[in-house]
Amino acid sequence: MGPEEIDVFVICASDEIERGGARAFSLSRFDASGESRPFPIVVIRTHDNAYIGYVNACPHDGVWLNIGSGDFFTQDRGFLKCGRHGAMFEIDSGLCIDGPCNGKSLQPIALAVVDGEVCLCGERLVEDDRPFSAFDDHDETMEIMIHPD
Ligand code: FES
Repeated sequence: MGPEEIDVFVICASDEIERGGARAFSLSRFDASGESRPFPIVVIRTHDNAYIGYVNACPHDGVWLNIGSGDFFTQDRGFLKCGRHGAMFEIDSGLCIDGPCNGKSLQPIALAVVDGEVCLCGERLVEDDRPFSAFDDHDETMEIMIHPD
């Protein structure tokens, strides 16, 4: 498969997320019918320097995991948690191991780190997000809203 067949978008520089940290991004993507839909994601950088991404939506009620406190982690930083009813998720699998959605999983997203940038693969994001390989020189700059931690 040639690169033109893969949608790859730069999300942020890899060092914009500290080890053991996470960052939320509000993107938009096209659904199957071509409508633009909000696509909130969270990118986690582990202590082992792996980048893991999920749709930022709790399987219980669909809210952002960092709702309320703004934090994605349990107090010991060992798990992801939902700020609404306290569901806990394994960081590397997204599996809920405690809380009202026990046994369900966060929806993973495909990430790749390319040349020091965290990229999202295989999603059709709306056009005002900067493509990874822009052949045309659009004036529109990337507009990704970053929610403060
Ligand atoms: S909405 Fe996340 S635990 Fe209820």
